Amino acid sequence: MDVFAAISQRSSVRAYKATDVEQDKLKKILEAARLSPSASNRQDWKFIVVRNKETKKKLAEAAFGQSFIGEAPVVIVACGTESDEIMGCGQPAYTVDVSIACAYMILQAYELGLGTCWIGAFEEGEVKKILKIPKEVRVVAMTPLGYPNQPPSQKFRKSLDQIVCFEKYEWKSGWLSGGADTSWGLR
Ligand SMILES: Cc1cc2nc3c(=O)[nH]c(=O)nc-3n(C[C@H](O)[C@H](O)[C@H](O)COP(=O)(O)O)c2cc1C
Repeated sequence: MDVFAAISQRSSVRAYKATDVEQDKLKKILEAARLSPSASNRQDWKFIVVRNKETKKKLAEAAFGQSFIGEAPVVIVACGTESDEIMGCGQPAYTVDVSIACAYMILQAYELGLGTCWIGAFEEGEVKKILKIPKEVRVVAMTPLGYPNQPPSQKFRKSLDQIVCFEKYEWKSGWLSGGADTSWGLR
């Protein structure tokens, strides 16, 4: 599968089969995170793999009751370990670094036939308590991981001309103006 196929076909999975995730597949997904880029190559991250049923259930509760999280055979919790590092652009490095690593994992999982769902809605304090995460470490995201038990969902996306402009910021791009078909065939 090429990268664009994975990007365009992947969708969030919110129903999982009980089938376990093979260890070699899990390792490849974690390798995708390990090999991803980070600011100054800081690799300021830690990925907690959770298979324990009770712990997964608690994580689902900490994610405002998103029960499908607990139904997946694996949950990966992605943490930033150097939360006080601010990049020159003013953004904290760890949120960007950990998010890139998560995106890579999600695409790698898709290529292996596994589903994921980026989870950003959770009570960080609760997750930290459940997993004994130190105070200075931040939880950026988590994802259930497992074989999908649902058909792929349709993608709804803005068109390119709604989100791209050239040379300077424009509220509306002039590029494809004039009533042209602006969808570029992408959904
Ligand atoms: C930062 C972020 C936070 C998200 N948080 C949640 C979440 O807590 N629960 C959930 O079901 N989906 C969550 N999602 C998934 C989005 O709803 C989903 O990616 C979006 O609707 C596009 O759909 P798709 O992933 O199927 O293409 C999150 C996605 C991102 C990128």
